[in-house]
Amino acid sequence: MAVTTSGETTLFVCVTCRGQTTDAGHDEQPRPGTRLLAAINSTLDALREGLAIEPVECLSNCNRSCTVAVTAPGKWTYVLGALDPDLHVEDVLTFARLHRAHEAGLPAWRERPEHIRKNTISRVPPLPSRTPEEVSQQ
Ligand code: FES
Repeated sequence: MAVTTSGETTLFVCVTCRGQTTDAGHDEQPRPGTRLLAAINSTLDALREGLAIEPVECLSNCNRSCTVAVTAPGKWTYVLGALDPDLHVEDVLTFARLHRAHEAGLPAWRERPEHIRKNTISRVPPLPSRTPEEVSQQ
């Protein structure tokens, strides 16, 4: 599989995640996913350098929220869950920077923050690079 490394790394943050609590009686407060996005965006610019932070509504990991996804053209995509906006912002950004730094988007296991190691929901390989002729022959 050919892998390209062009393009910036995107960190999708689910803003509709309710976290590990219910919203009962707390409708006036921002959802934990919205707070996670705000917490990420309030970090030092240097911690987010080279990362595009994008809000998204539901990454289909509602039962293990809060949830983010890290991806880039030609690289593996990771979905990360069980994130607490008060505890795991640094872990998320550390993983995203490691993902950005690795040619294929495969950060070394031992370098990943512990919470990320334990709460990686899934990973998806990059799209195969095929010419239109190769695609039509399948
Ligand atoms: S609402 Fe966040 S993963 Fe579904």
